[in-house]
Amino acid sequence: MPNKSMTAVIYVIFLIPVKTRVKYFLKTFDSVKNNSTFADSNNIKLYMTVTSTMHIEVKKATQSRLAELNTENLGFGKIFSDHIFVSNYKNEKWENPRIIPFANFEVSPCMSALHYGQSIFEGMKAYRYSNGDIYMFRPLENFKRFNQSAERMAMPSVPEDIFMEGLVQLLRLDKNWVPDGESCSLYIRPVAFATEAHIGVKISDTYDFMIITSPVGAYYSQPIKVLVEIHFTRAVPGGVGFAKTSGNYGRSHLPTKLAKEKGYDQIIWTDGYSHKYLEESGTMNLMCVIDNTLITPELHDTILNGVTRKSVLTLAREDLGIKTEERKVSVDELVNAHNKGTLEEMFGVGTAATIAPISLFGYNDKNYKLPPASEHSIGSRIKKELNNIRRGKIADKHNWMYKV
Ligand SMILES: Cc1ncc(COP(=O)(O)O)c(C=O)c1O
Repeated sequence: MPNKSMTAVIYVIFLIPVKTRVKYFLKTFDSVKNNSTFADSNNIKLYMTVTSTMHIEVKKATQSRLAELNTENLGFGKIFSDHIFVSNYKNEKWENPRIIPFANFEVSPCMSALHYGQSIFEGMKAYRYSNGDIYMFRPLENFKRFNQSAERMAMPSVPEDIFMEGLVQLLRLDKNWVPDGESCSLYIRPVAFATEAHIGVKISDTYDFMIITSPVGAYYSQPIKVLVEIHFTRAVPGGVGFAKTSGNYGRSHLPTKLAKEKGYDQIIWTDGYSHKYLEESGTMNLMCVIDNTLITPELHDTILNGVTRKSVLTLAREDLGIKTEERKVSVDELVNAHNKGTLEEMFGVGTAATIAPISLFGYNDKNYKLPPASEHSIGSRIKKELNNIRRGKIADKHNWMYKV
């Protein structure tokens, strides 16, 4: 027999309209389905992996290339694991999800993506814990951003089960490709592109979605020198700056090449109208520390909403008690702070480099040097915290790690 309080609870539940109850159930189910980790009532972490029944055909490589891998000298994006995940879109649906050996493939010379640029991608990482388990860092954030890019480029969204199950199954198969050195990880590159063979500007009717993985080491080996770009533009309001689409990178090569010829490693993009406000640092979001406050340009549609940016801001605010501001930052403010001695740090943040300290910025033919980063600097403290979470060395209290 239920006791009095239980009867009261049941009575109250029945007073809630059925629609609200169903909605609450679906929401709870959805958040459980969408999260790799969650805490039960005793705060014990339970780990979930994708449990979809989707069938993925697997054709294994006849011979692994793993034995040729030299983990001492990985570099970035030069070596690819044994397998890739593929699915094709036609007749308005994604089909034939499969894992196949990494190999070249044939395309039509008229393939739409080559001519008209419907091509999007993502970049994320998986890490090996000391017990050998493999975890991805916030893959659902990349999944969301992937489909935001797809929407802007008039491409079909990729269903969550294809994206997530594809990732998990591929990483399970190629788990030995996840390196375990201190600054090593497995870089994961989901990519989708228009495949219709058609000359003439139109939205493609067919697409391929692939997931490629690549064991990587450190992206930058030392602090970088950056040039504030005041001639070329990366993105304008109403454009595609917030999307991870290939044209954004294609257009950055010439300005970056010119900056490199002048001795810089990267450029800092400024807004496309006045070139007075900071936007991004090459392929990273930009952060600076002025007077002990961590400041980063606020998001709008010309800036990529970085997963690292978001994570760094959370760690700074919630875990390390660092004051943060997301707002417009002008180049003048940066120069003035430098002149007053209050510009303490600048760094780029992104999946590839994590946190890349900036040693100097160039603006209007003048160079402004920054103090060398120490282990006490804000960038170094956040980087250490983030790396410790990613490698399972400290508690993952934000539930960012997704077990493979
Ligand atoms: C233009 C641009 N901005 C910022 C970032 C950083 O984003 P994330 O931290 O999600 O890697 C990247 C890298 O993906 C990028 O290409």
